[in-house]
Amino acid sequence: MYQIVTMCEGHVPQIAALEAASFSAPWDEDSIRAELDNPLALWLAAEDGDGAVLGYVGSQTCFEDADILNVCVAPAARRQGIAAALMTELEARLAPKGAERITLEVRASNVPAIALYAKIGYAQVGIRRNYYEKPREDALILQKSLLPLP
Ligand SMILES: CC(C)(COP(=O)(O)OP(=O)(O)OC[C@H]1O[C@@H](n2cnc3c(N)ncnc32)[C@H](O)[C@@H]1OP(=O)(O)O)[C@@H](O)C(=O)NCCC(=O)NCCS
Repeated sequence: MYQIVTMCEGHVPQIAALEAASFSAPWDEDSIRAELDNPLALWLAAEDGDGAVLGYVGSQTCFEDADILNVCVAPAARRQGIAAALMTELEARLAPKGAERITLEVRASNVPAIALYAKIGYAQVGIRRNYYEKPREDALILQKSLLPLP
């Protein structure tokens, strides 16, 4: 079992370790820690009963536009719905604060992440050629509206 909570200082080293294990250009501890004091930022962690971080999502919101900075689940905890739960909780917290849409970028080859985002309602709105390095690759720009359906 796990619970989804707002990121706190105790999560930072574990999130940095997951970043380093999962991304070729990871956020380091200091960059993640700075988000704790960033009024535009909202990061959520999924933690198990012992406080171990199973996954996290990081976001920043400027007026009605929210951006997902990263989402990651520990390899041993994948395919249990944790990423979907983190994203759903993030949406539930951002919408009442005035966010109208969430945008994110994903590597064009990242099949698991693209499948996740499609399942929870993100649609492709653009592409940034050669956006990523290590390795160089296009980014798909995905977006989801948080506004109630008309
Ligand atoms: C992408 C990632 C966050 C998904 O986390 P997760 O907790 O395993 O995802 P969930 O269990 O919530 O999956 C929800 C849905 O996404 C899709 N999905 C997730 N992983 C998938 C995979 N490996 N293959 C195909 N579809 C997948 C499925 O539709 C899944 O629903 P289902 O299990 O009922 O079929 C995880 O694989 C990860 O951390 N990857 C490395 C970091 C990364 O690439 N982050 C994204 C950067 S943009």
